[in-house]
Amino acid sequence: MARIDLEGLGHSYDSPGPEAAYALKPFSHTWEDGETYAILGPSGCGKTTLLNAISGIIRPSEGRVLFDGRDVTALPTAQRNIAQVFQFPVIYRTMTVFENLAFPLVCRGLPDPVIKERVHEVAELLNLTGFLHLAALRLSADAKQLISLGRGLVRNDVAAILLDEPLTVIDPQLKFELRRKLKEVNRRYGLTLVYVTHDQTEAMTLANKVVVMNRGSVVQIGTPQELFERPEDAFVGYFIGSPSMNMLECRLAEGGVAVGDLRISLPGLDQATVPAGARLALGVRPEYVSLTGEANADTVPAALVDMKSVGAFRIATLEVAGQTVKAKIRADAPIPDDRIQAQFESGRRVLYANDRLVAVA
Ligand SMILES: Nc1ncnc2c1ncn2[C@@H]1O[C@H](COP(=O)(O)OP(=O)(O)OP(=O)(O)O)[C@@H](O)[C@H]1O
Ligand SMILES: [Mg+2]
Repeated sequence: MARIDLEGLGHSYDSPGPEAAYALKPFSHTWEDGETYAILGPSGCGKTTLLNAISGIIRPSEGRVLFDGRDVTALPTAQRNIAQVFQFPVIYRTMTVFENLAFPLVCRGLPDPVIKERVHEVAELLNLTGFLHLAALRLSADAKQLISLGRGLVRNDVAAILLDEPLTVIDPQLKFELRRKLKEVNRRYGLTLVYVTHDQTEAMTLANKVVVMNRGSVVQIGTPQELFERPEDAFVGYFIGSPSMNMLECRLAEGGVAVGDLRISLPGLDQATVPAGARLALGVRPEYVSLTGEANADTVPAALVDMKSVGAFRIATLEVAGQTVKAKIRADAPIPDDRIQAQFESGRRVLYANDRLVAVA
């Protein structure tokens, strides 16, 4: 497996010129050897473009790609020593499942006993052992995709495995199981895995580092916990978490911010770090909003608009100074009868200036 450096990597599908729009805005990042990464973002944000620039399917219009320090920017996919798994199965229909899985190893001229051992190991991992002698074309879409996945995993000498929404055609039940297996594979073989998805749960459960993209830009790279606790960009707060992070329009006030005519004190906020004239929003995750009947320095008056049960939790919709705030509270948490106050947990409030994080308080 390899370390992959992206240096000022960017891509535009347009012909070069000042009007060219970036599908991927130039950025730099190092993908560490042996880590599992997810590229997460909504449809059209540039995930596939980024993955294809790493794999060599597209030649980036800007920047360089290095595998273990070697510049591979101009090399075709075949010379980059990577395995790829796509959204839809790519298999050899006339071959058996065994032959499909063995193919990448046969191409490299490995001895038969080694091939057999690797194929059986991967087949076992993916529950394909019982199907090895069957013709691949007879299998369901699920099983065909498992074969594609297996072909990606069967070689242990690849620089990285790149997967582009590989579980799209897989049954939801099996998805959960497969994510678990991919994690296990990664642990066992120490693979560098780059996994594209638009599903936050998939990204957060599978990867130890998540690359969040929006409109062609990489907006944050971090562990699932960092993305949850400290979204560097308001988009990350909105896109990750369910419900999304609350964002309250606000302005600076003495000792904190004002939301409408309510003042929220933010001890430790250094107002000098807030750019003058910036559009400000106070973010707080629904998990860190609680309801109480007693006012204190950290509470603001709130009106309860709606309450919805979701398993062990309830989602309360509140109105605070004319803006909507959601609270995720335990199903058995008491709700004050009247004069409800919303409490935003201290240390969990984040301030955005023009959508970029400027303070945590
Ligand atoms: N071959 C192409 N030629 C021109 N524009 C393209 C091409 N491929 C993608 N684009 C554009 O580049 C942008 C990024 O597309 P990309 O396929 O990388 O997004 P994505 O995040 O993978 O989306 P999805 O989740 O739908 O797969 C989009 O605006 C898309 O329309
Ligand atoms: Mg895509």
